Amino acid sequence: MPQKPPLAEPVPLAKSERQSSGELYETFLNWSGRQDHQSHRRLHKWHHYFDVYERHLARFRGTECRLLEFGVMDGGSLMMWSEYLGPQARIVGVDIDHRTKQFDKLLPNITVVVGDQSSQRVLDGLIADHGPFDIVIDDGGHTARQQISTFNGIYASVTERGVFICEDTHTSYWPEYQDAGPGTTMIEHAKKMIDQMHTVYCPEAQVARFRTPMAARPGDLLTTRFAATTFSVQFYDSMIVFEKRPRAEPFTEFR
Ligand SMILES: C[S@@+](CC[C@H](N)C(=O)[O-])C[C@H]1O[C@@H](n2cnc3c(N)ncnc32)[C@H](O)[C@@H]1O
Repeated sequence: MPQKPPLAEPVPLAKSERQSSGELYETFLNWSGRQDHQSHRRLHKWHHYFDVYERHLARFRGTECRLLEFGVMDGGSLMMWSEYLGPQARIVGVDIDHRTKQFDKLLPNITVVVGDQSSQRVLDGLIADHGPFDIVIDDGGHTARQQISTFNGIYASVTERGVFICEDTHTSYWPEYQDAGPGTTMIEHAKKMIDQMHTVYCPEAQVARFRTPMAARPGDLLTTRFAATTFSVQFYDSMIVFEKRPRAEPFTEFR
């Protein structure tokens, strides 16, 4: 019998600079050499994020979707999203730095709002003035407080089949970003959200309900709004993707 290698055994990572594939990644790789921008706008992303973007955002291409990104910096990523999703998409960027206002209308479908992502007043204003959003990307300040309050403050308003992406969650392991108290990080917060998705299975006695046809079930089965509207929570290296989709009561049967 071949021995099973222990999963915790230290092994080296590949030294590969190409870490994704697809059209969006090619756009990123060629960004610096492009002459077609009136003024070049830098963008800053980790190479391994692009496979994740393709997996979760490709279905929005060519649709009249609305994307909200926290963290504008030089405006490059807003341009990239516009090119990828198409001119009919509405792209809204938010940054605490008032200098980013210069990137408002960088392209006709790009809007920049100056504000603090951890302010509920700012989030409510964004939803009222530019939402509801199909795609929310948090690439802002990356502290625990910012990541958690932005997620908590906007997730319920994301459209029924929308996605929320929190980037750079490696900061959950960096002490200087842990400003929400000991042990409170975005990664830990998302783990608790996974627990919420499964609370309907506790206590185990409810399993009988899940075998019963819907019409014969008494009363309502309650769960949290998060659990009732979330299809998946996916952890990637330094990213968490929440995919929304309305859930029904669980149903299991032999066929
Ligand atoms: C990593 S950069 C954004 C990069 C950009 N999305 C890109 O891909 O090119 C982070 C930005 O977040 C902004 N930021 C920091 N704290 C913020 C806050 N509390 N609210 C909104 N934006 C914030 C910074 O000013 C900075 O421009």
